[in-house]
Amino acid sequence: MDINRFNNYLFSIDKSLRIMSDEEFLTFNKKLYSLIRFSKEKKRKELDGIFDATLKIKDLGASLEAAEILYNDYIYFLEKNDRIKAYKRACYAISHGVLRAGSPFFIDFMYRMIKEVEKHCKYKSFLAFFLNIEGIYNHIHFKYKKARSSYNKALEIIKDISSEQFYRDTGYKKTLYISLIKNNISDIDLQILYRNGYDKNLANEIQNNIQDVPKEDEYFYIITHLTLAELLAFTEQKYKADKIFADLNRIKKPVHRKWIESVKKRIIANSYYLNGQYEKALDYAMENFSISIKTNLIIEEKISLNFYFNLLIKIMNRDSKSLFSYKNQKMFTDNILRVLTDKDWYTGRDHSREVQNLSVKIGEYMNLPSNKMAILSLGSLFHDIGKLNIGWFTLNKVFPLSELDWELIRTHCAEGEKLINRLGLDSCSYIVRDHHERLDGSGYPNGIINLDRLTQITVLADIFEASTTPNRKYRKAKSKETAIKEIKSFSNVLICKEVIDTFLHVIEI
Ligand SMILES: [Fe+2]
Ligand SMILES: [Fe+2]
Repeated sequence: MDINRFNNYLFSIDKSLRIMSDEEFLTFNKKLYSLIRFSKEKKRKELDGIFDATLKIKDLGASLEAAEILYNDYIYFLEKNDRIKAYKRACYAISHGVLRAGSPFFIDFMYRMIKEVEKHCKYKSFLAFFLNIEGIYNHIHFKYKKARSSYNKALEIIKDISSEQFYRDTGYKKTLYISLIKNNISDIDLQILYRNGYDKNLANEIQNNIQDVPKEDEYFYIITHLTLAELLAFTEQKYKADKIFADLNRIKKPVHRKWIESVKKRIIANSYYLNGQYEKALDYAMENFSISIKTNLIIEEKISLNFYFNLLIKIMNRDSKSLFSYKNQKMFTDNILRVLTDKDWYTGRDHSREVQNLSVKIGEYMNLPSNKMAILSLGSLFHDIGKLNIGWFTLNKVFPLSELDWELIRTHCAEGEKLINRLGLDSCSYIVRDHHERLDGSGYPNGIINLDRLTQITVLADIFEASTTPNRKYRKAKSKETAIKEIKSFSNVLICKEVIDTFLHVIEI
């Protein structure tokens, strides 16, 4: 493989994957796969170009693939006994694989690496790096105490490493990396402010912690100044926040611009919320999330989603009416579907609604009581909500999914359950968790065999809707007849006969 030619192609891409034509997208997929295959070859030459390529691939949003290539490069250098080069690859593989892709394989790899480098003091730079990533990982999963402890450990370790060594090992300037870790700590405080409301002491602490970062590194500069601007806006020092944004205007890189825009929308949403203009607040929060998913920055994406959900819950809870009252439910579902639609063209567009429609029809035909119908309706509508945690490219790539992809996709059940519980819909979260389980135990994530009727209805509706609509680019849908024939063969194997028979009646109507 000619890596220079490959990189010329890669660096000539000037638009995001989402807006590529089908042909351009297919070419990208093919080339990416050839690089993944190449990175596994043991006899290839040592090529720095592979590392450069992964930075662009990650920026384009194929972060799991970037992590996979870096992991292969890590193995390559490990076999050559060059641990320093291998560990540098591991740093970036973990950073993309854990923080951007949320991949279980890379989360596990991160913990293994921490244990490995902890034993030798000559690998201290890597330990500091991995601990910061561990901190961010806990941070975006709201485990603030754990996150803080990892950050503090990282700061403690990095102190004793010379700038030269840190730069040589990781490619980062030590002073900038320290600022980044400190900024991460401030961001935890900021998230707590959003959650609990304004607290003067905490606000002062954050402001003191944010250091003035030199402008030489755009990424570091933006991340610290955005945290500061959010804080200032929150503490009603809006003019100071505006000054920061005016300064950030000179940033031109499109993904960085989107990041800045994303944070701006969040600030506006929050001020509308504080003024009691809830619908406007939700609209801006939605725009915030919508832009954040185009930044390919999972941290910003998670923060926006968390902000949006928290806002939604706070607004709903202000009304003493039940979450299940019609007006509230409609507002609630419409808002969540908006988020899903933006994230994944298939799940959001029709699939969620269609699975819900079919499930409800089956439930009605079975004369299920109204309390069960309410659970079925919401459970089937939100069955794929966990896909909010999966990157767009993984949901839309052309080539057959790898084991790494599958492992990641399988997390959407448990992640969905957590999200639904956070939204206060605990009664239907088990449907979300179990909608890929099958009666014979062949399903995922837990391979359970005890599925109640409501779950089985959702399972069936999901299978039928997924096989009769082209759920990925280039995939052909099955005809209704073929799908029905297939579903008949599942009777009492994957789904109970009663549910399948009812479905057959309903589909004929
Ligand atoms: Fe699913
Ligand atoms: Fe689905």
